[in-house]
This record gives sequence, C-alpha cells and structure tokens, in this order.
Amino acid sequence: MTDLYPVPADFAARANVTAADYERDYPESIRNPDAFWGRIAGRLEWMKAPTRIREASFDREDFHIRWFADGELNASVNCLDRHLATRGNKAALVFEPDDPSGEATHVSYRELHARVCRLANALRNLGIGKGDRVIVYLPMIVEAVVAMLACARIGAVHTVVFGGFSANSIAERIRDSGAKLVITADEGVRGGRRVPLKDNVDAALKLPGTNSVATVLVVRHTGGAIDMQQPRDRWYHAVVDGQPDTCEPERMNAEDPLFILYTSGSTGKPKGVLHTTGGYLLYAAYTHECVFDLKEDDVYWCTADVGWVTGHSYVVYGPLANGATSLVFEGIPTWPDASRPWQVVDRHQVTIFYTAPTAIRALMREGSGPVEKTSRKSLRLLGTVGEPINPEAWRWYHEVVGGGRCPVVDTWWQTETGGILVSPLPGAWPAKPGSATRPFFGVQPGIVDAEGKLLEGEAEGNLVLLDSWPGQMRTVYGDDKRFFDTYFAAYPGMYFTGDGARRDADGYYWITGRVDDVINVSGHRIGTAEVESALVLHPKVAEAAVVGFPHEVKGQGIHAFVTLVAGETETEELHRELVAHVRSHIGPLATPDILQWAPALPKTRSGKIMRRILRKIAEGAPDQLGDTSTLADPGVVEGLLAGRRNR
Ligand code: WT7
Repeated sequence: MTDLYPVPADFAARANVTAADYERDYPESIRNPDAFWGRIAGRLEWMKAPTRIREASFDREDFHIRWFADGELNASVNCLDRHLATRGNKAALVFEPDDPSGEATHVSYRELHARVCRLANALRNLGIGKGDRVIVYLPMIVEAVVAMLACARIGAVHTVVFGGFSANSIAERIRDSGAKLVITADEGVRGGRRVPLKDNVDAALKLPGTNSVATVLVVRHTGGAIDMQQPRDRWYHAVVDGQPDTCEPERMNAEDPLFILYTSGSTGKPKGVLHTTGGYLLYAAYTHECVFDLKEDDVYWCTADVGWVTGHSYVVYGPLANGATSLVFEGIPTWPDASRPWQVVDRHQVTIFYTAPTAIRALMREGSGPVEKTSRKSLRLLGTVGEPINPEAWRWYHEVVGGGRCPVVDTWWQTETGGILVSPLPGAWPAKPGSATRPFFGVQPGIVDAEGKLLEGEAEGNLVLLDSWPGQMRTVYGDDKRFFDTYFAAYPGMYFTGDGARRDADGYYWITGRVDDVINVSGHRIGTAEVESALVLHPKVAEAAVVGFPHEVKGQGIHAFVTLVAGETETEELHRELVAHVRSHIGPLATPDILQWAPALPKTRSGKIMRRILRKIAEGAPDQLGDTSTLADPGVVEGLLAGRRNR
C-alpha cells in the first residue's frame, strides 16, 4: 500500500494546470494533436507562424518526424528580445559562485540580450554562421548561457560538453560533429577544486581528427596559468569587447538544428542527439510552465549542469523562453557542507528547486541538521530528475527540505525526449513517492512485453511511446540509420525508451530503470561498452566486462571485471593504473567503483559473455544467478564469487 500525497488546497487554487484542465485537455491533445499543439505554438514568437503542425510516422517505410515544418523563428529572440519590453530589468539569471563568500550577480534580460548579441557578432566575425557546429566546454557560469544563446542567434549548432569529460571525450565529439570553434575557460572551479578546462582542450586538439577547429575562445575565469597558442586561441573578452550590443537574428526554420548533445548508448560510441528549433523550444517552455507551475515572481533553481540535457531545457531554454529568473550555480551541493543548497535557497529566496535523487541521497546522509539550520520558507515546489527516486529519499525531501508544504514532481524524461514526458502536474493530482505518475499533454506512453505486445491496464514491461511529441530528437547526428535502429526497430511503429516501467491501477507509471546496457551513475548515463572499450585499450588488458550494481548514494555504481593478457600479474599498482586510465580516457564520471580481476569471464559455449550473471555477482546476490547450465565453464563463476568476497 503506497501513501498518497494530495495536492495542498492553496496550491491547487492557484495552479497553472488544475485537475479539470488536464481531464479536459489531455484527451484532446491525443485525439487531435494538430489542434492542441497548433494552439500551444502561439505562445512562441514566430517570424513566420506555422500552418503545418504534426507530421510524424515511426514506420520504417515512411519514417519521418517534423513539427511546425513551415514555421520560422529564432530561439534567442524567444528567450531574450521578446521579454525586453515587459521584463527588461527582471533578472534572467542569478549567478551563485562556487565559493560561498564570493559575490552573487544578477543578469537582467536587457543585459543578457546585450551580452548574447556581442558574442553573436564576434562569432560571425570569426566566420561562424548558420549550421556550423560550436563546442561549448565551460563551467556553470553566465558565459555558458551566453554562448548557447549566441549560437542560437546566428543559427550555429551548439554542442555543450560537460566539464567532467576528458580530452579524449572532447576530441571524439569534435571529430563526430566537425566543430569549427570551441568556447572554453582557463579553468573551472567545483567544490573548491580547479578543473583544467583549457589544458583539456589543448590535449584534445592534439589528437587526430580535430583539425576542423580553427578557433578557441577562452573565458578568463580563475586567472590560472594556461598556454595561449597563436593564432588559434583568442581571449573571449578581447573578441567580445567593443562589439555592438544588438545583432540581427538568423531566421531559422522550425526544423533547423538547434543543438547536438552527446549521450551514451549501448555501443562504445556516444550518440549525437540532434534537437531542432521550433518543437524543442516550445516543448521545453510549455513543460517548464506546467510542471513547475511557473509564476512571474518565481525564483527558479535547477541544479543541473548545462553539459546535460536538463541544463539545456530547464536551466536555459525553458525558463528563459518563459521569462523566468533562472539560478546558475557553479558549485556542488555538498560543498563546503551539506547545508549549501539551502543557504543558496535562503540567500536568493528560491521558490522552485529541481535536482537529482543522487544529490538528495548525498544530502540526506548528512542528516537533517544542515537543512534545519536554514529557513527554506521561500520554497513552494520541489522536483527530481535523472533516475528513479527511492521512496525514503522522496519523503525526506518532502518532509525535511520542503517542510511538508511543497509538492514534489518526479519528472521522467531523457536526452532524446527534449523535455519532461511523465510527471506530476503539481496542482492536478496526488503524488505517490517513487512514481513519475502520469503523462504530459500529447504524450502517449505504452508498456510492451518482450514480444512487443502492448499491455493494457495494470502492467509491467518495457516503456515505449506510441506517437511523436514536439520535443522529440530528430536524428543521431550524421547517422539516420543508427537513429532508426536504436529507437524504432525493437518494436515496430513505437519509440523504445530503453527503460522498464510498471503501470498501477490508477494509471500511474513507475520507472524501474534501464533495461539495456546503460548504467545510471548519479543521474548520468554511462554505456557499459564505453567503459569496456576504454579498458581494453590498455595494453595489459585482454578483456573487460562492465555492469552496474546498486549504490546507496549514486543509484548505480560501476563494476568492472578485467582479464589481463597472459603473463601479466594482478598487482595493486596495475589496479590503480587501470582505474586512472578509465578516468583519463572518458572522464572522472566514468571511474569504476569496483575493479575486479577476472581470470576468466562467464561465457556461453558460443563465447558470449553472460552479463546477467555478472550483474548478480556485482550485486552480491549469488543465490539469484539463475540458469547457469549454458555456461561453457561453470567453475568461472565460483572463482568470481570468491574474488568478490575477498575484495
Ligand atoms: C534516463 C535518461 C532527463 C534528464 C536527465 C537524464 C533515467 C530520468 C527519471 C525519473 C526514473 C529516470 C531513465 C532515462 N531517468 N528521469 N524521474 N525516474 N528514471 O537524462 O542522461 O538522457 O538519461 O534517465 O533511465 O532513460 P539522460
């Protein structure tokens, strides 16, 4: 029996979307998507209003996804110019630096507009134009938002790379996207520690296949020592200062690309998820207003980094398209201590707070003390994203952080979906801890069994989407075939999410986690194949298999089983070397939590690694190994179980 958390009456009374609104509009949004989305599209400012609305088919023979295909608009105009008359002096961004004693700054819509225009002009002078790809490798500072919007203004396609990725990962993204320009900073700072961003870019540009990059713009942020290589490297301030503070926006077709964001899949190579302009922006803005019940005077804080899709949709595009005040936080939630987020909430009178379950669990571990010494009275709504939230963390968030007053929205979505697909609408229906509840307008989830049969009513299986929504990704950059094969081949006519889910008697969805070879570490997606490829690049490694295991704070941890080439010895030193090798190859976020020597891996007689068994070994559930009769050598499993115990 799960407990229901009803909508507080005062919240419901002022809600943007009430239960009655949803019961009326959701069925219409499914029955007649053209009418519904045609009406919603009016909330954007179009240079040419669309007359074509939804054009989509997931069938192999006639595969296409287009929204608002004859519409024209510019995303930066929608996020900036449109607000100048009514909100010019309103804070678009509040910047809170890593160092709590540092100065917080407010950037008004007028000032942000001017800063974006100056950079946009500078980029045009550097030869960047419509369709060119620009890598943004910046810390969570105002310039990161400026860089994204400046690209959007001139029609360049931004590719933001999270600051925790290594030189090799940057190079991989440059190679795949053919980027001409990189915007970075001398260094980042997170939790008091410096991140050598420019050094990483230098190292990336020494790797093969990165010649497309002609220019590197460098924001002076910490003032740390770096190499500037002429004529390639230019100081950001030097090229931007003196530029006019207006800039003619590029007319973009709704289906012109807005950005590429790389994400992990079940193969070794990250996919360039491509989002286009009209549908993405509309979907980010509309979900942001409904799910977060946005009001004009809200101070909204999403803790995600702009290196992830959450930062794109719910730090930058959604909030700014809605004229909201969005807080940009450079730091991490647990530094200098676990009361930092709540001090920031009090300092800036934050009303809406959106974070990941892993952050909540990390804070919860420090107890209620650090929370209770702050006020948090300004808060009225809490949200989570990135991974399933365990009911215990949900209740702690609701009771301790929100003082029992604030609804919690558990929002399920993906890089591929552009915006939230399943989530409570906080004024419309009660929450159940651990459930993302019901679909957003226009979203048709389904649950299929292993054969692809759609299940009715209460059911558990794989989560699919039966039709397109405006924020859907349009392709894998440069690889339409991979797009179709990854998402539409498993269940013909449906988009397969890669997640498992259960639907309960009330029609609420409970996401159970990935069912493919992707692990979710602290809300970040990591492909097991990526970590395996990194490991086998090491000359002493013959074979590697990587699986996820339940981790108290991170949600899932990374467990690597490693077989060395014949003649090599399993030493402590090599162990450290291999962990460091993965870190430097992919980035710190892919660091294995456990690296276990595997003299051999469990395989079928045809030589296929039995991951199901490795997962059970990693979980420490030797009694649940299941059928092991197809193993070529059952003794291998005994050895690994013993190895795990002795670790
Ligand atoms: C995967 C997508 C979408 C922004 C952040 C992650 C998992 C995401 C939830 C949630 C349970 C969730 C899914 C999904 N996920 N939100 N509320 N409940 N699981 O984006 O890196 O593309 O990862 O994150 O497994 O497929 P992403």
